[in-house]
This record gives sequence, C-alpha cells and structure tokens, in this order.
Amino acid sequence: MTTPHNTGPSLLDRMQKYRQYDFVSSSVNASGRLTRMVGLTLEAVGLNVSVGRQCRVVVSGDKEIEAEVVGFHNEKTFLMPVQKVEGLRPGARVIPVESHKNLAMGDHLKGRIVNGLGQPLDGKGTVTDDTKVDLEPSVINPLQRHPISEPLDVGIRAINGLLTVGKGQRIGLFAGSGVGKSVLMGMMTRFTTADIVVVGLIGERGREVKEFVDHILGEEGLKKAIVVAAPADEAPLMRLRAAQLSTRIAEHFRDQGKDVLLLMDSLTRFAQAQREISLAIGEPPATKGYPPSVFSKIPDLVERAGNGDEGGGSITAFYTVLTEGDDLQDPVADASRAILDGHIVLSRQLAEEGIYPAIDVEASISRVMPNVSSPAQMQQAQKFKQLLARYKANKDLIAIGAYARGNDAEIDMAIDKKPELVNYVCQNIGEAAPYLESLASLETLILPTLTNQSSTAGIQPKPNMNNTAQPQATASGPLTGRH
Ligand SMILES: Nc1ncnc2c1ncn2[C@@H]1O[C@H](COP(=O)(O)OP(=O)(O)O)[C@@H](O)[C@H]1O
Ligand SMILES: [Mg+2]
Repeated sequence: MTTPHNTGPSLLDRMQKYRQYDFVSSSVNASGRLTRMVGLTLEAVGLNVSVGRQCRVVVSGDKEIEAEVVGFHNEKTFLMPVQKVEGLRPGARVIPVESHKNLAMGDHLKGRIVNGLGQPLDGKGTVTDDTKVDLEPSVINPLQRHPISEPLDVGIRAINGLLTVGKGQRIGLFAGSGVGKSVLMGMMTRFTTADIVVVGLIGERGREVKEFVDHILGEEGLKKAIVVAAPADEAPLMRLRAAQLSTRIAEHFRDQGKDVLLLMDSLTRFAQAQREISLAIGEPPATKGYPPSVFSKIPDLVERAGNGDEGGGSITAFYTVLTEGDDLQDPVADASRAILDGHIVLSRQLAEEGIYPAIDVEASISRVMPNVSSPAQMQQAQKFKQLLARYKANKDLIAIGAYARGNDAEIDMAIDKKPELVNYVCQNIGEAAPYLESLASLETLILPTLTNQSSTAGIQPKPNMNNTAQPQATASGPLTGRH
C-alpha cells in the first residue's frame, strides 16, 4: 500500500527530485549556502564535509562552478574555486560532490595537452578512455618500493655522464629565469628512453606554454608526451590541480609497469599557489611569506614520484625550482633540496657565456649516482669536476698571465682540457646524447688524464694518486659491494 493521502507523497518519492544532485544513498550530504566571498575565498554555512572535498556552487540556473573545501571555522566552511568565478550571489547553493572518478586515463592521453581538470586545451576534442580515475594518489607502501638501481637515459650528455639519474630518482632543477630550463626539459622529453613523459607546466606565462609545445617540443616531442598546463592566470587551485594531475597521470602509467619521466615546471609556482590559498584562509605567513603548511605540501607531492612495487614501473621526476636573483637560499629551494635525491644547477653565468645547457657541473649532484654507475664512471666524473674546479680556482691568474706553465701539472692539465670539458657539456637543441655514447665520450676525454697522472706518479692504473685518491676510494668503497 502507498502512503495515505493526508501525509503526502512518500519520503522516497519526495527525494526523487534531488536525484540530480549526487546524493548517494550511503552518505547523504546536505547542501549549504554561500554567505561570503572575499577575494577568492568562499564561505558557506550548512555544509558538513571534510577538507579536500569537491563541491559545486550553483551560479545561476544550470551554471555551476567547481570549488574545493580548503578549511573551516566553527560552522563556516571555506572553499576555493577551481576556475575563475563570475556571477556568484549571496545564498548560492553549495552542493557536495561524491568523490567521482572522472579523469580519463590511458594511452589516448599521449600527445595531448590538458588543464588541471583533465580537460583538453589543444582543440583536439575530448579525451576518451575506458579507464577513469580520481585525483587520489595511488598508494605504495614505502617499504615495498624497489630501490633505485638502474640508470635512466635522459638524452643529455652532461647529465648521463656526470650526474647520472636513476629510474625512480627525484631531482631538482635549480635555475633563475631565462637560463634554459624549458629548452632542457624539451630536449629531455624528445631524447629520453623513458616510455612516456609527463610535463606539468605550472604557473608559467600562457605564452610560454604555447612556445614550449609548438617550438621546443614540436610534433615529434609531443608524441610520447602528455602536457598538463595551468598558466599563471589560472586560479591557484587550478595550478595545484595541474601539479597533482600530472603526478596522477605519471602514477597511472607507473602502475602499468612503464618507466615515466615526470617534468614539473615549476615546484616554486606550486608552492606559491599553495601560499595564495593558505594566506587567503588566514594561515599566518612564516618564512618569506610562505605559511608553514606549504612546506608539508611539497613533500606530499614529491614523495609520490619514485619507484613502484618490486617489478613495477618507475617515475623519475625533475622539479624545477626558481632561484630568483639566482638566490639558492630561497625557502622553497631550501625545503626541496632536503627532500630531493639531488639537484642540477643551471648557471646564469654559463648561459651568458653561451654554454647551453648551462649546467653547473660542480654545483650539481646526483645522490643516487653511486648506486647506478660503475666505479670507473664515478672516478671519471669526479676527475672531470676536479679539473673544472682546478681551472676555476686559478682562472684569474691564468687570465692575466700570472700563471707560468709547468708549475703545477694539474693546472696545466686543466688548462689543456678546459675546451674539451666545456665541449662535453655543450649540447645543441636538436642533438641527442644517448647514455652509452655519453659514457664513452666521457671515458675518451678523461682516461688520458687518469693514466697520465698515474704514470707520472709512478703508480699503476689503480686510482691511487695524490689528492684525488681519498674521495674516490670512499666513493668506490660501497660500490664494489653493490655491483
Ligand atoms: N641548449 C640550448 N642551445 C641554445 N640556446 C639555448 C639552449 N637552451 C636555452 N637556450 C636559450 O636560452 C633561452 C631561454 O631558455 P628557456 O628554456 O626559455 O629558459 P627558462 O625556461 O629557464 O626561462 C632560449 O630562448 C634560448 O635562446
Ligand atoms: Mg621556461
């Protein structure tokens, strides 16, 4: 029997009309009302949802915008819109959305350019795929991640040879603006042997996104790449989303057993987007205006890269860190240096000298290189750095002609080798430097200096000569055990 007439339609019938909202039977969430909007922060009452939850704000009629819960205070809930807002009114409905798997994932993404919501920006139509996922990170037990043990060919000679990167490593690319980050990332995208490259362009100027895709990557580079872009004019939440989405895409392919190269430009803009949000909801600023929570968001993001379970794929990630005014002490630079497995410094001075990529080999370090390189290569790379350092230390004397040849065999060698060392680092935009070739040319370059030295010192090939002996012995010590 149906409900008697005098009590009206049954509860079920009455609830039917709310079906259009994502009220799922298991957890009914009441919608709230917008009470205030200051800057980008929306305040709503009547919501009982957790931080991070997606909501839809009804702008008018069927127009809605997406917003995310970023905090609360007593009964007030703070939200941030993901996209730009127009036409919001007091009292607008705020409807919590069930966590939904709405991100298309899969091979169709290759060659595409999407925004932080996974919507196409390249005018090539919607991204269609069978697999749908949500933005939640894919969880890996840290104890089950397989260790970094294999090198990844990134197609850049100086990195392959002198700062070898391992599959699953996370590296910072520290540089000021205009010293060649984008070009270097474009070269890596085109020349790496990784199965797929995910490029996150966070907070760049819109023009730069187009330039990167059209000129630096080109048709060829885009083939195995996926670009997620959120330029500077997007809402801060969209920029965060773009960083999360690019990481999510990388995780997806990693979980399929692929070797993924993730290039994020830039981690600084990600931190700044987080800063905008935290300040807007009233978190007090600390170091250089960054609220403390920013420094926990960086590891949250970065920790998601790395190797998968034993036998699975890997995410090798490069995060660019802007060192404004070439200030390496920037708080974001500081915080990221501590959690990354190495950093590559691009130097403005080298760029000004026309040395591209402007990698400052001495200032850069790959912390996993000993795990993925042979002792011989380690020794050669170290010698390379020593020769450069020796030259640099005496540069002024050499330049004014105050150094007389024959006074110091090491300095003589550094002077002789300087052009070749510079040549080794230089690499044209269109030139690929495969891993094995990079190693071979390093050996050709450095081996004569090593044997030369041992014969002058009267010692046989064992790298047991003067001041180079100590670091090498320690570097090769643990290595022999590993290989
Ligand atoms: N490998 C290279 N060879 C020649 N020129 C380069 C190279 N890398 C960078 N450049 C020059 O440096 C400029 C700035 O590079 P870009 O990658 O846009 O810098 P960033 O992304 O750090 O702001 C480029 O327009 C180009 O002229
Ligand atoms: Mg750039």
